[in-house]
Amino acid sequence: MTVTERRNRPDSIDVLVVDDEDDIRELIELSLMRMGLGCDTAGSVQEARALIERRRYRLCLTDMRLPDGDGLELVEFIQARQPSTPVAVITAFGSIETAIRALKLGAFDFVTKPVELKRLRELVTHALKLEPSAAVVAPGGRTLIGSSPAFLQLRAQAEKLARNQAPVFIHGESGTGKEVIARLIHGLGARANGPFVPVNCGAISPELMESEFFGHRKGSFTGAATDKEGLFQAASGGTLFLDEIGELPLAMQVKLLRAIQERAVRPVGAHAEEPVDVRILSASHQDLSRLVADGKFRQDLFFRINVITLRIPPLRERAEDIPALAEHILARVAEREGGPPRRLSPAAMVALQRHDFPGNVRELENLLERACALCEGDEIGPDDIDLQPACFSSATARPDATAAETGSTAGADAVEHDGHDTEVERMRVLKALEDTRWNRSAAARNLGMTLRQLRYRLQKWGME
Ligand SMILES: Nc1ncnc2c1ncn2[C@@H]1O[C@H](COP(=O)(O)OP(=O)(O)OP(=O)(O)O)[C@@H](O)[C@H]1O
Ligand SMILES: [Mg+2]
Repeated sequence: MTVTERRNRPDSIDVLVVDDEDDIRELIELSLMRMGLGCDTAGSVQEARALIERRRYRLCLTDMRLPDGDGLELVEFIQARQPSTPVAVITAFGSIETAIRALKLGAFDFVTKPVELKRLRELVTHALKLEPSAAVVAPGGRTLIGSSPAFLQLRAQAEKLARNQAPVFIHGESGTGKEVIARLIHGLGARANGPFVPVNCGAISPELMESEFFGHRKGSFTGAATDKEGLFQAASGGTLFLDEIGELPLAMQVKLLRAIQERAVRPVGAHAEEPVDVRILSASHQDLSRLVADGKFRQDLFFRINVITLRIPPLRERAEDIPALAEHILARVAEREGGPPRRLSPAAMVALQRHDFPGNVRELENLLERACALCEGDEIGPDDIDLQPACFSSATARPDATAAETGSTAGADAVEHDGHDTEVERMRVLKALEDTRWNRSAAARNLGMTLRQLRYRLQKWGME
């Protein structure tokens, strides 16, 4: 048996190193020892499994190609047996696909051979900060609201992703909380004490982009009066959040890809590259694969930043989160203004839950802020909420829903040709119900319709 269960420091075995090449094992072991870490080593999948069954490690480093199997098997085995132990894989130079497969399976990070000791030390430092006790960091004091199954699942995924270093692409409509989730991943991870640097890729002018990202040297172009560090350098040790990454011009995409691959950047006007240590998170409301198909986004960059995709469901798919979100927002307004938080009337709440929210949580925030400003009492009614017709554009973008609504109706309902009219009608009905404390006969009278017509509408809108 080639297992060497050596104790470098009598009371601490922290890391399991799995590699079939003696010199690599020794090199890694020695570097870890210098960091004050003890390790066990194994030369095959079988030996590694035997050790994992016996002891809990703080980190496992495994080669990909082993005599009796591959590192991916170990990644899976550890995920099953010691899910809180981060695993990093050592891959042959140039086999980035394998590294990406490992990350998708849950590996924490990877290093390529020949192993660069500086990079190894960085990796280990990050991994060991991931002890469960250290990971309970509140992300920037923000409260994330949501208890719908869709939101809970998203949150759990984000928490899991916080524990590795893989690039994550966050996809969601505008205002769904892409930045909030990116901050959560950063705040719960090993880089929480490092900077979180958000960049709106659509807001930087193309001429300045390279200098913004990578920095520049004094005198490298007109206006470069001093040396300036770039966003990559500013995010060093932390996370760079590339928001609206679909907006990056193609020329910049090439440079970004290189920076990610090399983990190094060259400031404009500099001769040499500087190493940078950042985790890349990116986001867009656009479908990047479509941009790739249209030739607007490079496939190789897509492949690199999109190792894991996190989809944020739009608010209309988790309408059950609206009451809690609304309460949170109203409490925040009240705190700012001093005084008790306003309440939403039941009809106002129903109206919100039926609204499409093309602008998602951000739209809900704006809408309630406006309602608080307009509303005179302490209860917000449907009249105080300005569900602007423009906001219903996405109702018309769902032809199925509109067709179903119009198709089954006739006569008095023929006016409902688009989502807007339906929504206006709904608000009118809700208001009448509210005014009559949900006395349907009285409401129908006020609306100038029969009780049967009112019932028909309520039924159709699922409001019975
Ligand atoms: N689950 C949540 N709990 C509380 N607040 C949230 C939640 N999700 C989003 N928000 C709030 O909604 C607003 C929009 O969130 P964020 O900026 O993260 O969205 P985004 O998807 O990045 O939007 P955009 O596409 O406009 O950039 C923010 O004010 C944020 O605090
Ligand atoms: Mg955003």
